[in-house]
Amino acid sequence: MIIYFSATGNCQYVCQRISAATGDKMISMLDCINENNYEFNDEVIGIVTPTYDYTLPTVTREFLQNAKLHAEYLYFVATYGTSPGGTAQHAKKALGKAFNAYYSVRMADTWTPTFDLSTPDKVAGFTATTESEIEKVIEKVKNRAEGQFMDHRAPAFFASIGKALYENTRKTKHLWVEDSCIGCGLCARKCPVQAIEMKNKKPVWVKDQCAMCLGCLHRCPKFAIQYGNGKTKLHGQYTNPHVKL
Ligand SMILES: Cc1cc2nc3c(=O)[nH]c(=O)nc-3n(C[C@H](O)[C@H](O)[C@H](O)COP(=O)(O)O)c2cc1C
Ligand code: SF4
Ligand code: SF4
Repeated sequence: MIIYFSATGNCQYVCQRISAATGDKMISMLDCINENNYEFNDEVIGIVTPTYDYTLPTVTREFLQNAKLHAEYLYFVATYGTSPGGTAQHAKKALGKAFNAYYSVRMADTWTPTFDLSTPDKVAGFTATTESEIEKVIEKVKNRAEGQFMDHRAPAFFASIGKALYENTRKTKHLWVEDSCIGCGLCARKCPVQAIEMKNKKPVWVKDQCAMCLGCLHRCPKFAIQYGNGKTKLHGQYTNPHVKL
């Protein structure tokens, strides 16, 4: 089985590709958390997660901290845009045991407060190697390869800075909504950590911190949610084109 967390579809796509090639079943990490389902027995278990600030999203960390994964072959895949940072060591620490193999796949970087995904060319700048990297992961998983196969990792020092940075990044005070919001409620329904409530037909962030997955920003039908100084408006919305979220 392959257990994935995905806000904007990249990890879901990687999971779909591995699942199609291996026949392993896909399971949503969020469903596991919501159903209090943390113990799994299978010959092969994979975890697929995005990288956030060189570390794990809160959702992935929470899952791994509670999980009991019994497998002959246990592997970890981090998708990323610039660097998977310290996700491997942070995943090992959260789970309390080592994985047999660690992989990474470079994809579009959904951190649009910094990165520009406003045109297909800009997206392509991140995705040139995506397919070949997925193929390599599939081949290695099929052969039960063991070891550290991640590219562009960050030294432990930077990874720990990223982890501290994420505590600020994920403050919901950075998120705001424009007047173009039509009150459809999609952002509130899809938020993985229930950080949004609809009040007077507008989203209101009801928690001080969230996972900062940017799913609300990238999936809003009116592109009405922005982050920080609003550069996100210039950098476009992105969801992986191969999956249905
Ligand atoms: C809050 C946040 C922080 C991120 N930090 C990093 C990072 O440190 N390094 C990186 O390479 N990509 C970073 N990204 C990009 C995502 O890891 C990448 O786009 C991932 O493929 C998204 O997966 P998803 O579409 O399945 O949600 C970040 C994205 C978000 C939303
Ligand atoms: S998804 Fe967008 S349009 Fe819909 S309620 Fe949220 S902010 Fe408003
Ligand atoms: S509020 Fe938006 S950015 Fe934060 S976790 Fe929910 S959907 Fe993701």
